[in-house]
Amino acid sequence: MDIYNGWLIVNSYYNPAKFHALYKVLEESAQKAGLRLSKWTSDQRPTIIGSKAKEPKPAFVLFWDKDVQLAHTMELSGLRLFNSATAITLADDKIETALKLAAAGIPIPDTIPAPTCFPGCRRNPASAEEAARLLGWPLVIKENKGSFGQQVYLANNKAEAERILNHIGEHDCLFQRYIAPSKGKDLRVTVVGGKAICAMERHSANPTEFRSNIGVGGTAVSRPLSALEEKLAVSAANALGLDFAGVDILLGRDDDERYVCEVNSNPQLQSTIDTCGINPATNIMWHIRSLVKGAATAVGTTPDPITE
Ligand SMILES: Nc1ncnc2c1ncn2[C@@H]1O[C@H](COP(=O)(O)OP(=O)(O)O)[C@@H](O)[C@H]1O
Ligand SMILES: [Mg+2]
Repeated sequence: MDIYNGWLIVNSYYNPAKFHALYKVLEESAQKAGLRLSKWTSDQRPTIIGSKAKEPKPAFVLFWDKDVQLAHTMELSGLRLFNSATAITLADDKIETALKLAAAGIPIPDTIPAPTCFPGCRRNPASAEEAARLLGWPLVIKENKGSFGQQVYLANNKAEAERILNHIGEHDCLFQRYIAPSKGKDLRVTVVGGKAICAMERHSANPTEFRSNIGVGGTAVSRPLSALEEKLAVSAANALGLDFAGVDILLGRDDDERYVCEVNSNPQLQSTIDTCGINPATNIMWHIRSLVKGAATAVGTTPDPITE
């Protein structure tokens, strides 16, 4: 089997221990698909905007970071990124995601961008009150960029919204309709190469917690997808141009009511592996292989030639 070299790009600063297990899964899964990954933190791969990638260059870059400036710079230099810089940019910003999904006709919870707040300005809670006039209380408030449920809040009234907005400060944020039937639960669907490969229903740690993220104590069970859920998950990944994605779906009053909550461009895989008994990294690697094959030069089994 021809071997293709790739870089695994990870963040320079945020590298908690749980990510090390993920990187190991990625590297081992790559090997099984005939891909050889060498891991670099983003600071180890500075790239001049407009420069050409040095030869020999990797057949692909598995970009497991949100550093979209570096991602775009690498693409401009001629490297093939998974996910692409544009797809990561769209997925990493919840308003960008909402705009794309809504434009594609995919159901999302009603969402209002909060007014931009410049450094040194103070957010006005009247903006939340105006939003709640349209969306109702309780009101979901989210920072546009956030993960693991950590930047997602629920305000029951104007005073709570004010506290949340003061905490958020100048970070971009949004107001969203609270999907009450989904309280404390959602569906995480893993999509690779336009196919939904597995799903798990997640439940929050306690009845007062509305967020079902594993990162805030949630638990998960594997479950089959309905035709609607499968269609929404795949359409959402396609709408953002993601080669692989973790799509969060909120549950409505009945089986016909589903909303795409958010889409992750570099989802945590361990909970899916543990819950569904499927390793999506293997699917990701075979998907990458099928796309780089032919487009790249196979390097055989020679030692990694990628040095500078
Ligand atoms: N509009 C909403 N209505 C009800 N629950 C929500 C809503 N938005 C988010 N949640 C809950 O909060 C969790 C985290 O929100 P999400 O947008 O996925 O942010 P993150 O990127 O931090 O995971 C979701 O998995 C879901 O359980
Ligand atoms: Mg989420």
